[in-house]
Amino acid sequence: MDQDGHSGEQESQEATARRSYNAMSRVYGLLSDSSEKRFVRTAIEELLRPSAGEHILEPGFGAGQVLVALAELVGEDGHIDGIDISDGMVAQARKRVARAGLEQRVSIRQGSVTALPYKARSFDAVFMSFTLELFSDELIPAVLAQIRRVLKPTGRLCVACMSAESGNATMEKLYRWSHRRFPHFVDCRPIAAATWLTRTGFEITQRRTLDMWGLGVDLLLADVDPNAAHQETPTAAI
Ligand SMILES: C[S@@+](CC[C@H](N)C(=O)[O-])C[C@H]1O[C@@H](n2cnc3c(N)ncnc32)[C@H](O)[C@@H]1O
Repeated sequence: MDQDGHSGEQESQEATARRSYNAMSRVYGLLSDSSEKRFVRTAIEELLRPSAGEHILEPGFGAGQVLVALAELVGEDGHIDGIDISDGMVAQARKRVARAGLEQRVSIRQGSVTALPYKARSFDAVFMSFTLELFSDELIPAVLAQIRRVLKPTGRLCVACMSAESGNATMEKLYRWSHRRFPHFVDCRPIAAATWLTRTGFEITQRRTLDMWGLGVDLLLADVDPNAAHQETPTAAI
């Protein structure tokens, strides 16, 4: 841990993610539109259901399609904040938001979800798609603790991610093997997101499981659990 509270693992995750997402930032919008779009749309329309006037944070926004969609849904009285570690993704998202004429409604920063530069209790909701599963079992509790800190007590978290709790077991094993063997190419793996959320002070209120080429995708909506206010950060692997 350095004097800013950064661990070596956190710095290494950030450096690796910045490098690889910078490299694919120009084509990432096309890639994600062809693979993840339907899951993201279902998560937003059926679980998160943003209301006019809400203030929503999206960490790990990639090419920025969701920033635009959320900004349209919260209307002119709402506001969207986005934070992503990759300056390439930040540049792409800024262009996309400008093309949509939504700069006044969307604030974009380069930075890490492991050290969110926002005040406590600022957001009505946090939306995060295909990003939580990039973090190791050691870092997931730190990411969720940051999200919990910036959510209002009445806030909600919506996550879309590859699931270790559903889907085809062989596909999941193959994905995990690829992640262990080629971590720079396959930078994520299916995770037990519902269990992680429950252990870190969230209460799941809705869950849908969909299929992506045999892999399960979890769509989760969770409230801040008021009874978990003093819960310690869990360290045991799931
Ligand atoms: C797999 S992409 C998902 C992008 C988008 N949410 C989607 O569903 O298409 C993961 C995103 O998380 C970002 N990222 C990785 N590590 C991060 C960190 N520590 N803090 C913030 N963003 C991070 C990457 O730069 C990338 O844009």
